[in-house]
Amino acid sequence: MFSYRITFDGSLRDLAMIEFLSLINTYGASVNMQEIKYKTFLVDSNIPLEAIFLRSALITRAERILGSDPWNIDWNKLFNSFSTDSNNIALTYRIEKIEPNCKIGIKDIDAAIRSTIPNVRVSMTYPQIVLCVRKIQKHDFICQPLKTGRDYCLERQLKYRPYAPSAAMDSLLSRALVNLSHLLPNEIFLDPFCGTGSLLIEAAFMGLKTFGSDINPQHVRASRMLLEYYNVQATVRIADARDLPFEDNFIDGIATDPPYGLSSSTYGESLYRLYEKFLGEGYRVLKDSRFLVTCFTPNIPVTELAKSIGFEVLDVITMRVHSKLTRLIGILRS
Ligand SMILES: C[S@@+](CC[C@H](N)C(=O)[O-])C[C@H]1O[C@@H](n2cnc3c(N)ncnc32)[C@H](O)[C@@H]1O
Repeated sequence: MFSYRITFDGSLRDLAMIEFLSLINTYGASVNMQEIKYKTFLVDSNIPLEAIFLRSALITRAERILGSDPWNIDWNKLFNSFSTDSNNIALTYRIEKIEPNCKIGIKDIDAAIRSTIPNVRVSMTYPQIVLCVRKIQKHDFICQPLKTGRDYCLERQLKYRPYAPSAAMDSLLSRALVNLSHLLPNEIFLDPFCGTGSLLIEAAFMGLKTFGSDINPQHVRASRMLLEYYNVQATVRIADARDLPFEDNFIDGIATDPPYGLSSSTYGESLYRLYEKFLGEGYRVLKDSRFLVTCFTPNIPVTELAKSIGFEVLDVITMRVHSKLTRLIGILRS
């Protein structure tokens, strides 16, 4: 059993929860979750969840719960998992924080670690392992804060990009949408309205075989430029989402942000017809029982359209973007 304490992005709590559950499903984990305070959960899992945390955009903090007695924790196993050489060079750690009123102190943890790993040392600047002590449901626990996908994704926010038009999607939301498409590394991902490639960049960073297309050649050029800027690989081409250049049953998962008829053009097509044709094409190119995740606005009856094409509608998440725009996210299965 592997135990964790995780905190979700409060402003996108529902989406964050669905992103996490999609990843749990994708990786075949079986978990027990208990909310211990608003947006913070204890999670017990049958498999390690580190790979899932590295995928997630909307988990703001993840910690592995190591145990409550420093003398009962397998420090060798933990430090060995970080060791990159066989010459037994000293490993480094730092105790980041001890919550108020905890009985476990720095000296207890130091003594227990040094008794098992003699050449270990403390590094305040670049420790390999960071630890903290928390009170969880009235008991003290030594925890190990873990990296999340969010830590890296924030570096790719629109404000840091060399090119970001107004319709471009934020990196955190892009990553969450890709995760809703339930794909494992090396599976085939498609964004058929890729614009400047926000979803493609995140998909490629997560090790998916990434394909993108857009009707606008300028956007295709921008996508290629940004993928190169971030040094990740994807195949991007000019194509109409109403007539996708892929064979039937070729794609493992789709996530996309089509035009809403506001800041990005539909090139003369009515929104209804555009979604109808794109969903039909999505259904054709997707393998069986795979996911298509699409943004839309409330004035487009996407759920009815999707059902009439043959999709199962699994969920629709509502996000208020600003006073004039509510974005819905539909999770469909072929
Ligand atoms: C909301 S934007 C996508 C933004 C993108 N996610 C990004 O971060 O840059 C919608 C995109 O759909 C494209 N588009 C509109 N009609 C299309 C069609 N029929 N086929 C393919 N792309 C189309 C537009 O050129 C635009 O780039």
